[in-house]
Amino acid sequence: MQPNRIKALGVFDSGVGGLTVVKAIRDLVPVDEIIYLGDTARVPYGNKSPASVIRYAREISAFLLSHQIEGMVTACNTATAYALSVLQEELEIPVFGVIEPGVEAALAATKNGRIGIIGTVGTIGSQAYQNALLKRNSHLELVPVATPLLVPLIEEHWLDKRATTLIIEEYLEPIRKSDVDTLVLACTHYPLLKPVLSKMLGDQVVLVDSAITCGLKVGQELLGRLVTSETEKTQDIQVYLTDMAPHFGKMAQEFLGLKKCHIQVVSVS
Ligand code: DGL
Repeated sequence: MQPNRIKALGVFDSGVGGLTVVKAIRDLVPVDEIIYLGDTARVPYGNKSPASVIRYAREISAFLLSHQIEGMVTACNTATAYALSVLQEELEIPVFGVIEPGVEAALAATKNGRIGIIGTVGTIGSQAYQNALLKRNSHLELVPVATPLLVPLIEEHWLDKRATTLIIEEYLEPIRKSDVDTLVLACTHYPLLKPVLSKMLGDQVVLVDSAITCGLKVGQELLGRLVTSETEKTQDIQVYLTDMAPHFGKMAQEFLGLKKCHIQVVSVS
């Protein structure tokens, strides 16, 4: 029989980006406690080799497992692309990634079959999104663009600075020329740039990310159900970082609507 609530769920990312997935999980899944690990000592993951990212993911999993988690979410596209299958094979608890949920969201959103994808060098180079989308529909036209400068800007909380807008404009040029109707935010950090992105692309382009589809999947698979009332929502979030990150607490408070964000710095390697 499936339990009525999840006692503890582990979630990790290289930094602040995984909070976009945490937000959806808190809204959708009855969980007592989320244990979040942001690997701020080693962010960004996007330009690291697959072997390094797999090693980081294993180390973080061992840390999260010591907190008696019942499931784990790899809330990072780069880590999902490189390490999800390894973690799923090695760990005894269910492990969720963010790429399949992002693919599902993109397929549900597109009407003209032209989809832009922005992500890290690792995620775009791995072809994980391209392969998964084309496997479902080989007629899709995809415009993948690696956007490596965005994660450091987001970690700096430069969400609406002029320099950030200029960099995004440059990155989006091939996407704007391609008449896409959907843009996949294939990095969990990028939903924090949604206001700038939607201002730039206008209403005709739907921005999709993995957060909600990932939350739905976690709830359905671990419990066979989603939250039914406000009081059922996640009660607590424990935040661990591998190095102090000056803007993390503020962003977590703003984005998750927390009154306080108590952060503990830990070593996982
Ligand atoms: N949030 C991570 C992702 O979804 C960021 C990767 C990075 O640290 O470069 O890929």
